[in-house]
Amino acid sequence: MGSFLLRIVVIRNALLTLVAGQEVFDSPVRLMHITDSHISLANEAPPRSSRMHAAFSRSRNRETNAFTTPAQEFSRLVNLARDWNVDLVVLGGDILNFPSNRTMMWVLEQLRLTGKDFIFTSGNHDWLLEGQRGAARYDADRVSELSSTFRPFYEQSVSSVSSCYNNLGYWDRPGIGILYGCAVVKGLLLLFVDNSNFQVDSDQLEFVRVQLSNVAANVPVVVLLHIPLMLPGMKLPPKELCGHQHWGAATDVLWQVEDRPRWPSGNLQSTLDFRELIQAHAAPGPIVALLSGHTHEDAAVALSPEERCANGTWTVRSEGGRERVEASGALQYTTHTAAEGAYRLLTIY
Ligand SMILES: *[C@@H]1O[C@H](CO)[C@@H](O)[C@H](O)[C@H]1NC(C)=O
Ligand SMILES: *[C@@H]1O[C@H](CO)[C@@H](O)[C@H](O)[C@H]1NC(C)=O
Repeated sequence: MGSFLLRIVVIRNALLTLVAGQEVFDSPVRLMHITDSHISLANEAPPRSSRMHAAFSRSRNRETNAFTTPAQEFSRLVNLARDWNVDLVVLGGDILNFPSNRTMMWVLEQLRLTGKDFIFTSGNHDWLLEGQRGAARYDADRVSELSSTFRPFYEQSVSSVSSCYNNLGYWDRPGIGILYGCAVVKGLLLLFVDNSNFQVDSDQLEFVRVQLSNVAANVPVVVLLHIPLMLPGMKLPPKELCGHQHWGAATDVLWQVEDRPRWPSGNLQSTLDFRELIQAHAAPGPIVALLSGHTHEDAAVALSPEERCANGTWTVRSEGGRERVEASGALQYTTHTAAEGAYRLLTIY
């Protein structure tokens, strides 16, 4: 009962402040999406951190093919965000290679030096230190890591500011501002949902439902996830997608490599309902774009099931990805790994 009441209050606050704090959409809005950097400054917790640290100890810049490091590329990208004067840096998860306070502080310092506002949603590697076969669940450390190691990310993110709700959730029961949240950027509403465990729970679903059913007609919405939604046209295995019909214990190919408990048997109903909700509100509804990462590959696919190529009110231009896209219907964008210096610049106008 207590938590039910808390949820009502949190959601009502979300509603009141969103309506009260409405700004006029100040076109254009430019978002720089940086995802899957996989930064680890050191192999801090061997042997459990060794595999991931070795996998990303150096990389190659995908444009120049020169050797580089994920950290060097991250600095370069946030400096570009400053030079280009983007409105918001959108961090899509797996920015860290495994949980580390040292790496977390370094990343925040890079952002602070540029003076750029940012928003963050976590990825599956941010909170996973491999080698926990004895844990109760595959995502056992997610909430505890997000509310300890990653707490400064959420506190310094624009999602902690009360344009959509009055305050961050409780740290012992993370919810608003951590597992889901929003920010208003020049009149554009950006919603994030942490699906780094491949699922969307009923609180997250309810939050997004309330936001979408109350958004004013002149407010475009961008949704941020770590793991892309399974949509028609996405031909990837369950480990790459959220809502894949075969996701579950039988298709969990990494549990031994990552040395953790297996995924449960299948998707939550709320995950499938979330996808339906997003599709139902895609342009010409309010949602103009969905940003995701996780796969380390560029992609852009239609959000609407029937690919109606709808004429929305707004246009979204995407640059930086391998494909240059200009769309008035809503697309799900997946952005190549920033460990190789990739990014996506979305302009909504
Ligand atoms: C980071 O520091 C916090 C606060 O001291 C602590 O709770 C957390 O466990 C630390 N994280 C890691 C990965 O060591
Ligand atoms: C979108 O607009 C263009 C140009 O105005 C028009 O030719 C096209 O038929 C429209 N498409 C839809 C699906 O309404």
